[in-house]
Amino acid sequence: MPATKQKKAVRKSNIVKLKFDTSWAYDPAPESKSAATIKERYDLFIDGKWQPSSNKKYFATINPATEGKLSEVAEATEADVDKAVKAARHAYESVWKKMPAKERGKYIFRIARMIQEKARELAIIESLDGGKPIRESRDFDVPTAANHFFYYAGWADKLEYAFPNRTAEPLGVAGQIIPWNFPLLMAAWKIAPAIATGNTVVLKPAETTPLTALKLAEIIEESDLPPGVVNIITGAGATGAAIVNHPDINKIAFTGSTDVGKIIQRAIAGTDKKATLELGGKAANIIFEDAPLDQAVEGVIIGIYFNQGHVCCAGSRLYVQESVAKQVIRKLKDRIESLIVGDPMDKNTDIGAINSKQQLETIHKYLKIGKQEGAEMYQSSCLLPGKGFWCRPTLFTNVAQSNRIAQEEIFGPVLSVLTFRTDDEVIEKANNSPYGLSAGVWTDKGSKIFNMTKRMRAGVVWANTFNKFDPTSPFGGYKESGFGREGGLHGLLPYLALKA
Ligand code: NAI
Ligand code: MG
Repeated sequence: MPATKQKKAVRKSNIVKLKFDTSWAYDPAPESKSAATIKERYDLFIDGKWQPSSNKKYFATINPATEGKLSEVAEATEADVDKAVKAARHAYESVWKKMPAKERGKYIFRIARMIQEKARELAIIESLDGGKPIRESRDFDVPTAANHFFYYAGWADKLEYAFPNRTAEPLGVAGQIIPWNFPLLMAAWKIAPAIATGNTVVLKPAETTPLTALKLAEIIEESDLPPGVVNIITGAGATGAAIVNHPDINKIAFTGSTDVGKIIQRAIAGTDKKATLELGGKAANIIFEDAPLDQAVEGVIIGIYFNQGHVCCAGSRLYVQESVAKQVIRKLKDRIESLIVGDPMDKNTDIGAINSKQQLETIHKYLKIGKQEGAEMYQSSCLLPGKGFWCRPTLFTNVAQSNRIAQEEIFGPVLSVLTFRTDDEVIEKANNSPYGLSAGVWTDKGSKIFNMTKRMRAGVVWANTFNKFDPTSPFGGYKESGFGREGGLHGLLPYLALKA
């Protein structure tokens, strides 16, 4: 809005009214799609070569913001999985495990630098294929992916310092299956520690978001990494199951739903396959009355609406101390109203498209359940684009601890707000969940932070912040959120056998 018009608007209305004035629209600031190259069709990246699948079948990946087709990718069959595992085994035995660790590290550093060089293109493709705002792909997903490669490249030749007085040996071939919420970043979380420790890899991205993993395959090809060290194959659940069940895989690393996590655990029972499972969550974000409330509200907003709430560690259960509940809820409603929902490619967008039609249906199912359970639903009044999959930022008040919207993972921009009076009460409520991945505490008192973090059954507890990630810091859950840690020195362990 031009400055003169703006002044008039201020004169005419009070500040509150002005905030909701729809004329306060930002001019569009779209990122250019032309800075990215997406091929019409992608084959499987096996043994350093692009190969069609044995059944010659392809499936489409769409842009969830437009429903338009972006590309098609090969559907890997059991025979293709076998080919990829054989390539990984051969690369492991003949090259990778024998290579001096310092040399292995150099390749990983090279991949990290190439991700940085191609950061803009990767960010664009991530937003087109998955629907997340370009601001997030550009400022979070891609740089954090590069950082993981840098971090683990550094560990490659320092394992004797990580695990003193013990010999650390790789396991062999790792089968890695990743979800659609952070496609490139999850590929980095999986591949970097695996190859830094001398293992080779067969990785499968999710069926709705395969493109950045395939771009990463192009980077890996260009990096001259020995063929077969990293194989990237596309497909849906059946391809994932074929990886899990392949007899020559030594380790499974999976991020995704708790249901599939359970299937995987059953499938590998009785084998000597190692596994790490990073599954769902229903994180409690707790605001005490002494917390800096504006800061806390901002943290709650980031906690639940980041990446449309498609985040396993999303702060989807808010516990507010009763004395400040009214105030916090009002602030949350005001803030929700200012979130910009729409074109993921626009640099001003806060909330992009829901990743798939199926996920949107799941979210709608929970909105209905919440209302039926007697909770009160509040949504922002923003307009939604006509095409594509969208959900307004939503919050529920009057939620009971036993409600399904307080117990089950929704994986969308939906916050359940509950209240509490005492520390003991909130600890009991926060821990009363089948999940245990993350949690957040907002308070002015350091002593309270230590007390709370000690008593919370969650793998990661953030204090006066939320959704902070760093490659040096381990991440993982308890209970139905899975087991094993990724990131940091801890993230090396699942890929190693330690000998005395
Ligand atoms: P999903 O668990 O089915 O998909 C994750 C990955 O597992 C994909 O690559 C998929 O192809 C693969 N997969 C599916 N079935 C498999 C099988 N039997 N064996 C091996 N791999 C298999 O997740 P979905 O159905 O896309 O989402 C359902 C719910 O799961 C979401 O609403 C959300 O609550 C949760 N979820 C949690 C994630 C997390 O980061 N923890 C990520 C994605 C979903
Ligand atoms: Mg897609």
